[in-house]
Amino acid sequence: MWDSIWINANLVTMDGEGSGIVQNAALAVEKGRIVFAGAQDDLPDHPEALARTIHDARGQWITPGLIDCHTHLVWGGNRAREFEMRLNGATYEDIAKAGGGILSTVKATRDASEDTLFNAALPRLQNLMREGVTAIEIKSGYGLDTETERKMLRVATRLRDEAGITIQRTFLGAHALPPEYKDRADDYIDLVCNEMMPALQKENLVDAVDVFCETIGFSPAQTERVFQKAQALGLPVKLHAEQLSNQHGASLTARYKGLSADHLEHLDEDGIKAMAKAGTVAVLLPGAFYFLRETKVPPIDLLRKHRVPIALATDMNPGSSPAHSLLLMLNMACTFFRMTPEETLAGVTKNAAKALGKSNTGILKPGYRADFALWDIQEPAELSYRFGFNPCTGVSQGGKFRDFALSRKADSTASRTGFSPAARNSL
Ligand code: NIG
Ligand code: FE
Repeated sequence: MWDSIWINANLVTMDGEGSGIVQNAALAVEKGRIVFAGAQDDLPDHPEALARTIHDARGQWITPGLIDCHTHLVWGGNRAREFEMRLNGATYEDIAKAGGGILSTVKATRDASEDTLFNAALPRLQNLMREGVTAIEIKSGYGLDTETERKMLRVATRLRDEAGITIQRTFLGAHALPPEYKDRADDYIDLVCNEMMPALQKENLVDAVDVFCETIGFSPAQTERVFQKAQALGLPVKLHAEQLSNQHGASLTARYKGLSADHLEHLDEDGIKAMAKAGTVAVLLPGAFYFLRETKVPPIDLLRKHRVPIALATDMNPGSSPAHSLLLMLNMACTFFRMTPEETLAGVTKNAAKALGKSNTGILKPGYRADFALWDIQEPAELSYRFGFNPCTGVSQGGKFRDFALSRKADSTASRTGFSPAARNSL
């Protein structure tokens, strides 16, 4: 017997070339894995004979759980004041050069206790989870000293363990130059490579390594030193690349078989070809594009032409993208980047899984983790069409199902399997 089965569903499996749509479908789960995802007529027997628990999806849609593959979800303080400064004409670079920007968040994060950081981060994570997110990446990079980088990565680990969500913890020690290393960037890279990265990896706090390669960040040569160290330690790399200028960071990332190159507004065709060859995913961040009022659009047509997988993420952070909704990123990717609804959904499922180096989630397919989301929508394109509305009615996280309709007990119309219209968006 299977553990549970969802019947009367419509699936967006993401298996194969397109979206892999199956209508009048069923999805079954056993021991946290998908064991059936296909046409209900193809089930080998009656649902009652196959599974212990039967959920009637009542025509709702099921997609793979969404994946937010680029976030800086743990930070102290906020940067609302800098937002105002930018509205009055200062640029993101101006503020960074004046010692604000990332460094103002570094100060607030150093000053915050681990509990304070955890308590601030948890609702951000919960907000994503209520939108059907089942896996996310969280970067460090607001510590810039061993102690505070450790504190951030410990918070990310606690979030993983307490929220029961898949989290990739990325060490971003080379995010900005801390004030105590002013004019000594190479010495700081020594610290990142020789002290921070090995120590934090030894404490089992690091799953991947990232660098901010930019005129206001680190040079390609410094980036490469970090990549070499990561490679020696067996850690996969990724990069904040070509966000504000073309530093050829994407090609560099491809040379190290990087998981992803992210932002990419200033990416050129050589970089794209290198990414295509290496299988490096292009992670686009429409929230940062929007919030920094960027006008240069990432080269979508060339990415398509060279068949580079495109993922989308919130880049959730206090400075360039205080975005707390992954669904909103789908809409922005359509409006700003002219991506298709189908491309955006691939961007937060199978391609985002690839960006995290995970081959067991992001697709509805037997053998994959039972990570999926239920949606009260008429067609999948609605997920990128509407904004500011959350039609998610339930989430399975490795087979653990949370029914958002049921969690409002006061609503008497919510049945064991039901999705009461009154309750479904109440969380
Ligand atoms: O992804 N570009 C560098 N890092 C972040 C911004 C961090 C910040 O401004 O606090 C980004 O945009
Ligand atoms: Fe970022």
